[in-house]
Amino acid sequence: MIDRKDKKPEAVADRRDFITGAAGLAVAALGASQAQAGAHQRAPIKLTAEDKTAKPIGEGAVILVTGANRGLGLEFTRQYAERGARIIATARKPEKADVLNALAADNKNITVEQLDVTDHAGIDALAARYVDQPIDLLLNNAGIGGNSSNQIFGRLNFETFEQVMAVNVQGPMKMCEAFRKNVRASDHKKMVAVSSSQGSIASVGSPMLYWYRASKAALNMCMVNLAAQLQRRKVIVGLVTPGATATDFIPEQFRKAIKSIQEPPVAAADMIRNIDRFTVANTGTFFNYDGTIVPW
Ligand SMILES: NC(=O)c1ccc[n+]([C@@H]2O[C@H](COP(=O)([O-])OP(=O)(O)OC[C@H]3O[C@@H](n4cnc5c(N)ncnc54)[C@H](OP(=O)(O)O)[C@@H]3O)[C@@H](O)[C@H]2O)c1
Repeated sequence: MIDRKDKKPEAVADRRDFITGAAGLAVAALGASQAQAGAHQRAPIKLTAEDKTAKPIGEGAVILVTGANRGLGLEFTRQYAERGARIIATARKPEKADVLNALAADNKNITVEQLDVTDHAGIDALAARYVDQPIDLLLNNAGIGGNSSNQIFGRLNFETFEQVMAVNVQGPMKMCEAFRKNVRASDHKKMVAVSSSQGSIASVGSPMLYWYRASKAALNMCMVNLAAQLQRRKVIVGLVTPGATATDFIPEQFRKAIKSIQEPPVAAADMIRNIDRFTVANTGTFFNYDGTIVPW
């Protein structure tokens, strides 16, 4: 228990979301002239009048993050802790989460908990332990790509479909169900999922990643449904995407081919800024990393 202190679619090569094992396909799709290494400077997100009424999540807020041991989940944990929030940082294997454990050892605001998002009994057990804990932001970050070689038409691996859907869709929805009362009892009342522009039907370019794309499209639909359901109760539901980010999601050898790939601190900071922008009025929005709205 934590003490409460209370656009356009991007071109394929341009920081679209690439995933483990997908980069081979992606690189083939890019063409050498488009392939370009390196991060870029980003334009600041333009704030609307409505954004100015949104409250940044920081000091005293409580945040539950899934997949907090590495990649973007670790970076969310680090940056929200720097803002003074208290983090319930979940990991499938906390005993191996050395970097997260070291961060938690230095910061009393971070509590590490074991959680596999496909283990629904485990989710219920964690929710039972935190039953009286308001949670300002439920951050469904954990996700898998499923490896592109399992997702080629003609050679589709249907077991991979089950795994990808279990982690990327059922996991976040089970989390939202299990922790809905915690979120409702909080000040900020936000449930956010890390999605991907690969889930945008309007943005499909080269055919690839059938299961991953389907999972993120399904996640988007579920979250928009939830937004409609919970708006009356002033619970805010949102979707964010980091754009292509140099985590384990994209093997190192492929990163150079992705134009404008970002480092996790920049990508997490962008998503955090966008999460701040969610309000009851814009609930259900899917913000791209640059603050634009991802087309459906
Ligand atoms: N990186 C990108 O370019 C990119 C682009 C668009 C969207 N995204 C999305 O961003 C999110 C985070 O990705 P990332 O780049 O940080 O990837 P990552 O470095 O591969 O990290 C994935 C995280 O998810 C966790 N995870 C996987 N299966 C899980 C399960 N069953 N239960 C609980 N946790 C589980 C992993 O834990 P283990 O260490 O135990 O495996 C790890 O902490 C994902 O939803 C992904 O789809 C990433």
